[in-house]
Amino acid sequence: MRKICVIGTGYVGLVSGTGLADFGNHVICCDIDQSKIDLLKKGEIPIYEPGLKELVDRNVKAKRLTFSSDIDTSVRDAEVIFIAVGTPMGDNGEADLRAVEAVAKTIAKNLNSYKIICTKSTVPVGTGARLQEIVESEKESDAEFDIVSNPEFLREGSAVKDFLLPDRVVLGVNSKRAEEVMKDVYRPLFINETPMVVTNVPSSEMIKYASNAFLAVKISFINEVANLADKVGADVHTVARAMGLDGRISSKFLHPGPGYGGSCFPKDTEALVYTGEQHDVQFQVVQAAINANKTQRNVILDKATELLPEMEGKTVAVLGLAFKANTDDVRDTPALEIIQGLNEAGANVKAYDPIAAENMKKFFLPELTTCKSVIETVEGADLVIILTEWNELRGLGLKDLKPHLNAPNIVDARNILSVDQLKEFGYNYRNVGRSNV
Ligand SMILES: NC(=O)c1ccc[n+]([C@@H]2O[C@H](COP(=O)([O-])OP(=O)(O)OC[C@H]3O[C@@H](n4cnc5c(N)ncnc54)[C@H](O)[C@@H]3O)[C@@H](O)[C@H]2O)c1
Repeated sequence: MRKICVIGTGYVGLVSGTGLADFGNHVICCDIDQSKIDLLKKGEIPIYEPGLKELVDRNVKAKRLTFSSDIDTSVRDAEVIFIAVGTPMGDNGEADLRAVEAVAKTIAKNLNSYKIICTKSTVPVGTGARLQEIVESEKESDAEFDIVSNPEFLREGSAVKDFLLPDRVVLGVNSKRAEEVMKDVYRPLFINETPMVVTNVPSSEMIKYASNAFLAVKISFINEVANLADKVGADVHTVARAMGLDGRISSKFLHPGPGYGGSCFPKDTEALVYTGEQHDVQFQVVQAAINANKTQRNVILDKATELLPEMEGKTVAVLGLAFKANTDDVRDTPALEIIQGLNEAGANVKAYDPIAAENMKKFFLPELTTCKSVIETVEGADLVIILTEWNELRGLGLKDLKPHLNAPNIVDARNILSVDQLKEFGYNYRNVGRSNV
């Protein structure tokens, strides 16, 4: 079992560091954010991720998992260092690699023995070569190192399960030595016969972007199918189900809604287009998916306007702020632009999210009125908009809800409500691709 240091203790670093400890490795998770490390040392989890607390507790108790803000010492003590810091969207859509490069310099300064420097952050093709140069030129000893690419495919909301039982592990390596160490790091998965794709570093880096961009294209595609379904009396759910029964298509990611969001698809699609441009390759399909995704927010706003043409001074209840269910992540959430659009139209917005309301106020909309329950949010509302597919919202009792509303208008942007019930209880409703069902 290996001594591992994970740098960056966010959604990916914390889950993968804990998962690697669960595989039997000794892991120290580091971050420059002292407040995160302090919380973790106290046994508190800075993010919402189902099952993570139990996994952290188990591995801390087994003394395989520790936390530190002393990155220098943690690097010196480790054999494998995972870089899991953020790579947000920079100017012109390219990935901002400043945090990754800063970490590479810290590792170089502390290179006291052979180490594997492994990017788990999503980084554009060519980054491995760039890190090779940085560490080569900044290291102060003659210790050897290998650069490895090991992109992460976990999904927020099911990250623990995704990490422990992945569909595949991708390893981009330049040497047999690095390959053997990395296989050892992932030994339980190797024994389980989880598919391992071992390739060179550029291919590994590209696999991550190609995968995310493909999924984004699927989402934008079904959203456009849904928009047409609304106009022609088709039911997008039936269309998607029948499409998905074709093994070449698969049913995954054929759920229409307000467009993709979160900390990955928006920035990764833009970054892939940017990388293509740098090499005179046009990603026309991905660019179209990006454009369609931006439009989809307006499609939802248009549906709201159809039900409530005069928004000035009216109350709109927004249910769901997270970019998807089971996470507190609000980065690039469709709710942000939709709420801004409602505000611009003069509506008074009240919002509810079981987990993400605090983050929405903290990072994006400090003035947003948030409520503690669905009923408090919808009280006196002229329109309700559902933006996240939380289970709590799937189970809305439409009969009991209606007396609380000023007008029975609902936009179900996630298609989670029963159309039969919406009709039965006399709602005016819009959904995405099922309005004529
Ligand atoms: N969130 C996901 O679902 C997901 C899935 C797969 C891949 N990824 C990729 O993983 C990477 C991390 O994403 P995330 O969502 O975990 O980000 P995050 O913002 O939740 O976490 C990043 C962490 O890195 C820390 N950090 C930043 N600079 C640092 C430095 N110089 N030294 C030490 N720590 C530093 C931050 O304080 C933060 O805690 C990104 O490249 C992302 O694209 C994310």
